[in-house]
Amino acid sequence: MLSGFGSNLQAIIDAVASKELTANISAVISDNEQAYGLERAKKANIKTHVLTTSPSSVMPALEELLTQYSPDLIVLAGYMKILNTDLVKKYNGRMINIHPSLLPKYKGLNTHQKVIDAGDKEHGTTVHFVTEDLDAGPIIAQSKLDVYEHETAEDLKARVQKLEHKLYPEVIRKLANKTL
Ligand code: GRF
Repeated sequence: MLSGFGSNLQAIIDAVASKELTANISAVISDNEQAYGLERAKKANIKTHVLTTSPSSVMPALEELLTQYSPDLIVLAGYMKILNTDLVKKYNGRMINIHPSLLPKYKGLNTHQKVIDAGDKEHGTTVHFVTEDLDAGPIIAQSKLDVYEHETAEDLKARVQKLEHKLYPEVIRKLANKTL
């Protein structure tokens, strides 16, 4: 599930294509019809769904769609809507998210700027199970980097995303193989 550029989706598609990851990406769901991630999915012959209306009407539609696919794992990759509690509970332990900070530090948005403002020497990304509390579910894995002097939020974002593209397919592979 995504809302935007879909570079993490691409990393997962590439890992499947290169057989580093054995998985079937049954569908890509977006709340934004302009999301470039949808193009990536189409190029890889993955079914796409767009659910764009207000949260109250999205959730029943989303729940129905997910039931239809009966996924082993739901992967949130830049999905910007907050999911309803019942849905999150239903998929407890089967829904994961990637967040661009070393959680529990810097939940929410603008994480790279927050790291710079705090003068942190270390930054990174976290894969965690999704629970009803935003960016607060059990941590599965993290990947870290050293923050350079004079680095901008954009520079950091680019370097953190490189880590994400390696970490997310690895975590999915380990969950699928039950080696986590
Ligand atoms: C990633 O940095 C991820 O940590 C955050 O949203 C971003 C999505 O990027 N949750 P992309 O759409 O996968 O390029």
